[in-house]
Amino acid sequence: MQLRQTAAAAAAVVLSLSFLLLLLTSTAKAHNITHILEKNPEFSTFSHYLTVTQLAPEINRRETITVCAVDNAGMSDLLAKHLSIGGIRNVLSLHVLLDYFDAKKLHQITDGTALAATMYQATGEATGSAGFVNITDLKGGKVGFSPQDSGGGVSATFVKTVEAIPYNISVIQISSILPSPEAEAPAPGPSQTNITALMSAHGCKVFAETLLANPAEQTFETNVESGLTIFCPGDDAMKGFLPKFKNLTADGKQSLLEFHGMPIYQTLQGLKSSNGLANTLATDGARRYDFTVQNDGTEVTIVTGVATAKITNTLVEETPVAIYQVNKVLMPKELFKAALTPTPAPAPAPEADAPKSSKKKKHKSPPAPSDSPADSPDADADVADQTANGAVRFNAGGFGAVILCMWFAFLQL
Ligand SMILES: *[C@@H]1O[C@H](CO)[C@@H](O)[C@H](O)[C@H]1NC(C)=O
Ligand SMILES: *[C@@H]1O[C@H](CO)[C@@H](O)[C@H](O)[C@H]1NC(C)=O
Ligand SMILES: *[C@@H]1O[C@H](CO)[C@@H](O)[C@H](O)[C@H]1NC(C)=O
Ligand SMILES: *[C@@H]1O[C@H](CO)[C@@H](O)[C@H](O)[C@H]1NC(C)=O
Ligand SMILES: *[C@@H]1O[C@H](CO)[C@@H](O)[C@H](O)[C@H]1NC(C)=O
Repeated sequence: MQLRQTAAAAAAVVLSLSFLLLLLTSTAKAHNITHILEKNPEFSTFSHYLTVTQLAPEINRRETITVCAVDNAGMSDLLAKHLSIGGIRNVLSLHVLLDYFDAKKLHQITDGTALAATMYQATGEATGSAGFVNITDLKGGKVGFSPQDSGGGVSATFVKTVEAIPYNISVIQISSILPSPEAEAPAPGPSQTNITALMSAHGCKVFAETLLANPAEQTFETNVESGLTIFCPGDDAMKGFLPKFKNLTADGKQSLLEFHGMPIYQTLQGLKSSNGLANTLATDGARRYDFTVQNDGTEVTIVTGVATAKITNTLVEETPVAIYQVNKVLMPKELFKAALTPTPAPAPAPEADAPKSSKKKKHKSPPAPSDSPADSPDADADVADQTANGAVRFNAGGFGAVILCMWFAFLQL
């Protein structure tokens, strides 16, 4: 009897341990472009520049993509142009298609031609059609590639498959670098990204102009390099809000604007996997001016206590800056709570404040998904962390049950 129970307990331990192992190994599986290219020395220069330009972690983070690699000879043609590192990054990001194309799919393109969006297009830096690559089935079983802004003609052709992991990543070799005057033009480094120009060009012009006329703009600028996430209200939302904005004091205006920035770089995936209080650029030592990031798995909302805004669009998501459009102005409770709760009896207000300060609740931002390019962090890693934590918790429960089992076994002795 006891033997059977201890055996069951042992089995439970083994089972929960192997479950933990299974979870850990299965979640650790994500592609690694550096590792894939490592097997082919002919792509060592290409791979080196994916790392130097910090595109490698971006590639590893994404799923359903195609990397068009060129060999070392092709890379020397590119390097001979002596582009800035930003220029090289742009050109190489044009070689990452945001769809899965393996040899078979390339040779079976519907109507013989397709436009593929690239990572260059996704950075928001490409204008017009510059971020798209035209793939065409040619005579004699060839497949041609040309940037949509290259003015016709085939720039490069398919050479061979390097690696295919359906439908996560396909790595193919193409005959030469895809030329793109726009991508090659010396691009500003990430730290010189003009955030107001970006917002103006993508539906947040009113917010950008309001920001430019306020000292808050400097706060945003000084945070660009170390990581910044901006939630910019769309033009309609911001226009409707302007009368209220004009009513604020100078301090209030600055705080309201700074409330729309977080001093860390957060990917959309990162926001989706982190619920909780987040610091803003307006947050001071007293831990005021923070908001709550909430999501239902698909949509991310920002809850201020006065307004709840929804992310409707991604303008930029590229280390170190992310800009998301929101459908409402984020109204901090510090500025609008009083106005929204008319005739507040003198008592409730201090009461509402008192427990807050006495509890000394930590208003810390949710753990940033360590999106620094150096340690190749990605949303998958976050999920892995969480799952691993879950597994640990599960195991603690498992051990509790085991101990309980043994306890009963002893009682029966
Ligand atoms: C594709 O990616 C997903 C998510 O990262 C992963 O679960 C899956 O195992 C990958 N598939 C292959 C064949 O590597
Ligand atoms: C990717 O592979 C390279 C080479 O094998 C390795 O040095 C690097 O640490 C790997 N990156 C990740 C995130 O596993
Ligand atoms: C791609 O280019 C070819 C020839 O340059 C053109 O005929 C075709 O219409 C283009 N495809 C798309 C989708 O733009
Ligand atoms: C960004 O562009 C705007 C025009 O859209 C300009 O007024 C501003 O000075 C620029 N900012 C920086 C930091 O270059
Ligand atoms: C501006 O403030 C005044 C006085 O506090 C108030 O009467 C008015 O409604 C406010 N306007 C807006 C648009 O909030």
